Amino acid sequence: MASISAAVSLSPWSEERLLEACLDERMIGHVVRVIETADEVLGFVVYARVLDEVTVHEIAVRAEYQGRGLGQALLCSALREMRRVGVVRCLLEVRESNQSARRLYQRNGFSIDGTRKQYYPCADGREDALLMSAQL
Ligand SMILES: CC(C)(COP(=O)(O)OP(=O)(O)OC[C@H]1O[C@@H](n2cnc3c(N)ncnc32)[C@H](O)[C@@H]1OP(=O)(O)O)[C@@H](O)C(=O)NCCC(=O)NCCS
Repeated sequence: MASISAAVSLSPWSEERLLEACLDERMIGHVVRVIETADEVLGFVVYARVLDEVTVHEIAVRAEYQGRGLGQALLCSALREMRRVGVVRCLLEVRESNQSARRLYQRNGFSIDGTRKQYYPCADGREDALLMSAQL
C-alpha cells in the first residue's frame, strides 16, 4: 500500500502511518480495505469513522491498473459498508486539480461543500482543497 501511495499520490501515506491505520491502535476508528490478487495489492482505501460520519483519508490504485473500475469498486464497497453500519454522511478533501478523483466522487453522489484555500503544496506553489460530502 505504501509503495502504491508513494507512486500515485501527491500526499502519500507512509508505511508507518498505514500500519497504524491497519492496526487501528493510535488511529482509532480507521478502516483499511484493499483490492488484491493472490500476488499483489492493486489498490486501497482508508477511512475513519466518528459517530455517524466517515472521512475518506486516502484512496489509491496502482498506476497500471487505473481506469479499469478498481477505484469505483473500492469506493462503492466502502460506501456500502458504511451504510450497513449506520453511517449517514461521508466527507473527504480533494485537490482541485485532481480531475479523475473528482469525477469518481461526483459519480458516487459527492458534491462540493466548500474550499480550503491554498491548502495543498504543489509543484508551482499551493492549490485549493475542495471539501466534498455525500449523504448516505
Ligand atoms: C482516483 C483513483 C483512485 C481512481 O482509481 P481508478 O481505478 O482509476 O478509477 P476508475 O477506474 O474506477 O475510474 C477512472 C476512470 O476509468 C473509467 N473506467 C472505469 N472502468 C473502466 C473500464 N472497465 N474500462 C475503461 N474505463 C473504465 C471510468 O469511467 C473513469 O473515467 P473518468 O475518470 O474519465 O470518469 C486513481 O486515479 C488514483 O489512485 N489516483 C491517485 C491517488 C489519488 O489522487 N487519490 C485521490 C485522493 S483524494
